[in-house]
Amino acid sequence: MYLISSREMLKRAQKGGYAVPAFNIHNLETVQVVVETAAEMNSPVILAGTPGTYGYAGVDYIVAICKEAANKHKMPLVLHLDHHEDFSDIQAKLHAGIRSVMIDGSHYPFDENIDIVKRVVDYCNRYDASVEAELGRLGGQEDDLIVDSADAAMTDPAAAAEFIQRTGIDSLAVAIGSAHGLYKGEPKLDFARLEAIRNVVDIPLVLHGASGIPDAW
Ligand code: CO
Repeated sequence: MYLISSREMLKRAQKGGYAVPAFNIHNLETVQVVVETAAEMNSPVILAGTPGTYGYAGVDYIVAICKEAANKHKMPLVLHLDHHEDFSDIQAKLHAGIRSVMIDGSHYPFDENIDIVKRVVDYCNRYDASVEAELGRLGGQEDDLIVDSADAAMTDPAAAAEFIQRTGIDSLAVAIGSAHGLYKGEPKLDFARLEAIRNVVDIPLVLHGASGIPDAW
């Protein structure tokens, strides 16, 4: 069994009207509990690692652990690069066997974000790896990335459509009111904005910072 890209997994989910959970894993134990639970529930799953995770555990160790988990549970797994920014770092991780990439250029101006993402998409195509990018900015903390709520910005639907058309990404992370890490208050998701994005965008959408969102949403 093996590590796959998220492309077909997310397309199937979109068609079937369900979401695929992505869990940030950090070590052997977190991989075990996530994959065992997903296998028990017969759920597709994405294992996400930030640059800090791969730096801590070692890329080859994480890849080997996840491959073994896929083998043990007889289910292909997506091992994902969460919030990666460095092109040569992404290249090295593709070479190590990872097939699912998030290139986060969301803190750059629109055209620059497109250039950064397009370069990664072109490279990932050689490996048949899927690419997620982000437009708009989430507040909160992820790894050592801290975004002040004043710098957080919602995703603009028209810009999202143009962004996808110009980059050729497989999935888009949207900013609609969720935040990374701990919420300071009750999160408010902008469903009208989400609907406006969905109306002009046909690829799978990704919601980061979902852990702290109440079940009622
Ligand atoms: Co995130």
